[in-house]
Order: sequence, then structure tokens, then C-alpha cells
Amino acid sequence: MTKRDNTLLKEAIGQYWNEHIHDLEIVKHDIGTLGFFEDLDEYRFDKLRYLPELVDFSSFKGKTVLEIGCGAGIDLARFAAGGAIVTGIDLSQTAIDLARKNFELRGLKGTFVVADGEALEYADGSFDVVYVHGVLQYTADARQMAREAHRVLKPGGQFIGMVYNRQGWLNIMSKFFKVELEHEDAPVLDKYTIGEFKTILTDFDDVKIVPERFPVKSRLQGGLKGLLFNTFFVGTFNLIPRPLVRRWGWHLMAFANKAVR
Ligand SMILES: C[S@@+](CC[C@H](N)C(=O)[O-])C[C@H]1O[C@@H](n2cnc3c(N)ncnc32)[C@H](O)[C@@H]1O
Repeated sequence: MTKRDNTLLKEAIGQYWNEHIHDLEIVKHDIGTLGFFEDLDEYRFDKLRYLPELVDFSSFKGKTVLEIGCGAGIDLARFAAGGAIVTGIDLSQTAIDLARKNFELRGLKGTFVVADGEALEYADGSFDVVYVHGVLQYTADARQMAREAHRVLKPGGQFIGMVYNRQGWLNIMSKFFKVELEHEDAPVLDKYTIGEFKTILTDFDDVKIVPERFPVKSRLQGGLKGLLFNTFFVGTFNLIPRPLVRRWGWHLMAFANKAVR
């Protein structure tokens, strides 16, 4: 990956995410209402059915969890509802304002800060868990963000992350049908092979990568394209036994530990 001019790029990234709330196009309720956050949660966990199966959000009671790039705090609210002590940071002020509102409306406790996940202001060994879902691929220097995630983890702490799979079915389809991916217009959108993702996570021990996120019916595509996708493609793909198609999962989930030395 080429070295980028990070300061300007970071400004552009923050600005982009101030103007593009993730999954906004499916929301039925007014921005910032409880219905809005419930819509986001319902859509996210319908699309990402694998996520609560792989991450038991309720199992971190009393643990300190940092989410880098928390967006509107949808996942962090699940950690907090399960009793975790949570902190969310994001480059985008809009994201942090929404996350705060989300927590206030749900009666949850959390700390939220506009900050750069590549330069965290936390001491070494501050958190039990660092969660970075759908963020490394949008930042200027993913390796630096992973380095920071490792630094602020306690020895024995757990890293959970997700990037997009360059060899994933959605990337292949988008290239073949010349259909843009969501947020293809973001200042940075990188995709990784499993090997490249492991290189980013080189500081961690016990790195396990699990490809996930197989086709589900789309609420976004209409017309003939939508009909073909939802009926033919989704149906056929899901008939194939998972082990045969796993390496083409669109999301590469990573689970790793910081070694106790
Ligand atoms: C696709 S959204 C994902 C939000 C949330 N994690 C989710 O899964 O819905 C990417 C988020 O990463 C944030 N982000 C990108 N680079 C960042 C950085 N260097 N530091 C902190 N946040 C960053 C963006 O502002 C944006 O809110």
C-alpha cells in the first residue's frame, strides 16, 4: 500500500463521514430519534446475521471496551447493554453526536470522543477489548491503527476487527457488473486478502480470520437487477454448502489477542 499524506487525508475522511451516515438510506424515522437508531440496529443485524453469532456482545460484563470508528454506536450499545464499560471514538463529529444521542435515548452509559484511531490518547494497556468493525479499510494507514489498537490493549486483551475481502463475492460482483460498492466514493476504501489482513495484524498473537457476510436479500436494489439478485443469486448462492464458499465471504472478521509477556 502506498504511503499517503495522512493529515489532509484524515481531514477528508472525517468530513466524508460527517456527511455520510452509514446505512442512512434505509432509515424510516427522523435522524436522532429512538426509531432511527432502532432502524439502524434492525437493518444492520439483519444484514450481518453472522455478527451476534461470532461476537457475544453480552459476554463482556465489567470489561473495558474501546470501539475505534464507532459511527452511531450501534454495536457499542450492544456491548454497553451487556454491562461492558464502553468508550467510542470516531474522526467524525456527526458520528460521535449520534452515538451520544443513541446512548442517551437507550439509557446507556458510554464515553464518546472525536479522535483519530491512528493516534490514540490512551495509555498502553488501557482496555480489555478493542473493537474495530468496518474501519481499518476506511482509514489512511490501517497498519498504524492496528498498532495503536495493540498498544492500548491490556496484555491478554482481545482484538476484534473486520475489513472487506478483496476476493469476496461482493467485490467480484461489483467489478463484473460495474456496480459501485457502498462508500466507494469515500476518501479511502481498501480491500484485503486474508494474507494482507494478517500482515496488518502482525503485532497480535493467535490471529484467526473468519470470512463471513454471505448474500442476503437487498433492500437497496430495485427493478430487474434487484429481482435477479434477490431471487436468483441469493437463493442459488445460499444452496452451496458454506465450507465451499467461505473464502469468498465479503467480511473478513479477525479475532486476535495481545500476548501476556
Ligand atoms: C463504515 S463506518 C463504520 C461505522 C461502525 N463501525 C459500523 O460498523 O457501523 C466507518 C467509520 O470509521 C471512521 N473512521 C475512519 N477512519 C478513522 C480514524 N482514523 N479514526 C477514527 N475513526 C475513523 C469514520 O469516521 C466512520 O464513522
